[in-house]
Amino acid sequence: MTTDTVSQQVRALVERIRQLDHAYYVNNESLVPDSEYDALLNQLRQLEAQHPSLVTADSPTQRVGGAVAQGFTSVTHDVPMLSLDNAFDAEQLVDFDRRVCEGLGVAQVTYVGEPKLDGVALSLLYRDGELVRGATRGDGLTGEDVTANVRTIRNVPLKLVGDYPAVLEVRGEVVIHKADFEQLNKKAELAGEKTYANPRNTASGSLRQLDSAMTAKRPLKFCAYSVAQGQDGYDCHSELMEKLKAWGLPTHDVQASCQSIDDCHAFVEEMSAKREALPYDIDGLVFKVDQFAQQEELGFVSRAPRWAIAWKFPAQEKLTKLLGVDFQVGRTGALTPVARLEPVNVAGVMVSNATLHNQDEIARLGVKIGDMVSVRRAGEVIPQVVSVDLSQRPDDALDIEFPSQCPVCHSDVERVEGEAVARCTGGLVCSAQRVEALKHFVSRKAMDVDGLGDKLLEQLVARDWIQGPADLYTQLDVVKLASLPRMAEKSAQNVLAALEASKKTTLAKFLYALGIREVGVSTANNLAAQYGTLAALKEAALVPSDEKGNWVLQEVDDVGPIVAEHIHNFFAQPENTAQIDALVSAGINWQEIEQDNDRPQPLAGQTWVLTGKLEQISRADGEAALRSLGAKVAGSVSKKTTKVVAGPGAGSKLAKAESLAVPVINEAAFMQLLLTYDVEFGE
Ligand code: IVH
Repeated sequence: MTTDTVSQQVRALVERIRQLDHAYYVNNESLVPDSEYDALLNQLRQLEAQHPSLVTADSPTQRVGGAVAQGFTSVTHDVPMLSLDNAFDAEQLVDFDRRVCEGLGVAQVTYVGEPKLDGVALSLLYRDGELVRGATRGDGLTGEDVTANVRTIRNVPLKLVGDYPAVLEVRGEVVIHKADFEQLNKKAELAGEKTYANPRNTASGSLRQLDSAMTAKRPLKFCAYSVAQGQDGYDCHSELMEKLKAWGLPTHDVQASCQSIDDCHAFVEEMSAKREALPYDIDGLVFKVDQFAQQEELGFVSRAPRWAIAWKFPAQEKLTKLLGVDFQVGRTGALTPVARLEPVNVAGVMVSNATLHNQDEIARLGVKIGDMVSVRRAGEVIPQVVSVDLSQRPDDALDIEFPSQCPVCHSDVERVEGEAVARCTGGLVCSAQRVEALKHFVSRKAMDVDGLGDKLLEQLVARDWIQGPADLYTQLDVVKLASLPRMAEKSAQNVLAALEASKKTTLAKFLYALGIREVGVSTANNLAAQYGTLAALKEAALVPSDEKGNWVLQEVDDVGPIVAEHIHNFFAQPENTAQIDALVSAGINWQEIEQDNDRPQPLAGQTWVLTGKLEQISRADGEAALRSLGAKVAGSVSKKTTKVVAGPGAGSKLAKAESLAVPVINEAAFMQLLLTYDVEFGE
């Protein structure tokens, strides 16, 4: 092959992958199966490896990061990065509109309303369509050059398309979406790494990583909101935003054209209601005069434009004094530092406690007792301490000491190397861990005992009536319960009746209730479906890992080596098996799905996948029935899948089956098959 043809091939691959990336990261559309995408990327990597001279800066292979900087060079912004004036109530919004109309000598002005994303500001510079620089805001005049990091943000195009201007400087916000943030923390938790405090700080920290490979691992997303250079020839903001989209840049998915201030108020109403449901955090809305000619006429005051205003939602952050730190002991013994605060009203709720997360977060914040701290409430999460105002630090501020003994049971506290969490080693000796384990045991998704509230459980443990969950079923009676404060005979009877009713359960709920580390509802379901009986699960759990560290339990969906080890450790502890035996003796029961060895195994060697909603049979029963016929049940479709049962609402698994030509049957055909083989299921 001549160098020219290779070069053409490389260009074609770069262009195709750019299209697929744009569809995926900007428009949320998947144009080809993952496998095809991977194949294209691999092909490109190979060609580039053979012909290093053909690697261009805009190649998608250059997004991985890796360059470790000593520090960032500073960037002087040709056009300063300004801030916005704020409006905190309707009246201030009306005042803004009056100033704008008076300034322009008109009765009414068209505004554009946009979400005010709660992230970190970023400026992107494109020359001839190529991304040449990414810079932070800094003090507005001078920022930091974070180009290497910005190149790893998947929805930032490395090359623009269409009729873009020769020089384009775009401003926008870098954020982490709520769901991505949860996932990031879940991953960190599973890997025993420290979790992140909130999306905004994580986005900000990630953008300023010296090692761009670290940035590449964070799910950052960019959203453009203005243009600092390159707007010549366009009349208004809304038009230019459409252009940005056409050039391949991600912009707001929510935008309002407001013909008057009344429309602005209506947008405030609408967005206040929608705010929680948005995929990202916003701390307000921004209203901008749409026409550039009018913007120019209005101009700027000091650091903010006269033509725009930020409408702020009721402050979700307030400053208050950190009075002290307590340590709460969780179900697994994890010690969480809790800030005791001078009570402060944050967005309508009095806050006197907030989480400080863990030891690393305390170090990161550099917080001391006596400091003025900023406390934030966002959505339903527990209030958090997000920053410290060092300028107000008193001389007698005290360091926060992590206890070396559990504040509740005085057992040693251990901190495993590499883990962010410090744990009380007391186990069930520790009454705090006992109470938390019981709260979990009775919770709705576990044994679902109605009427056994937190306060009541605390009293039962404080009186030493209850050591472990089995005691709930054996150690309580009406007289004892009715003797507790705020309990009468009737409520005592209700609690006992709820306990009695909870005895009939399912294996999955029981497994979840046991509170094995990292075993949540879905893992418990998978374990129950895979093994059918507690005895079979225990047998699999007790097999030690092989020399490579693999566990038998890893055959279960969602179970990796860490979870498998937790399950193994749980069943290897005699106290735990004694507790299980006691629970079973106390009458806890569930329908065991016996693997019937005498039954012929007509589906032996086959792998089935169930997907979508099944109406005549539960998922667990369907899977158990298949296993009793000798089939393996898998969670995902591959070339090895024998058959897929698809109910209504089946999505990606069905699509995958179709693309791999795996036979698919509906629920009716599945039920017919079970009938043919005479399989019994359910009750
Ligand atoms: S326009 C000249 N639009 O809010 C003013 N800013 O105090 C340019 N922000 O640091 C700002 N969403 O990073 C604008 N839709 C939006 C925004 C937005 C978030 C941030 C911006 C700036 C701060 C303004």
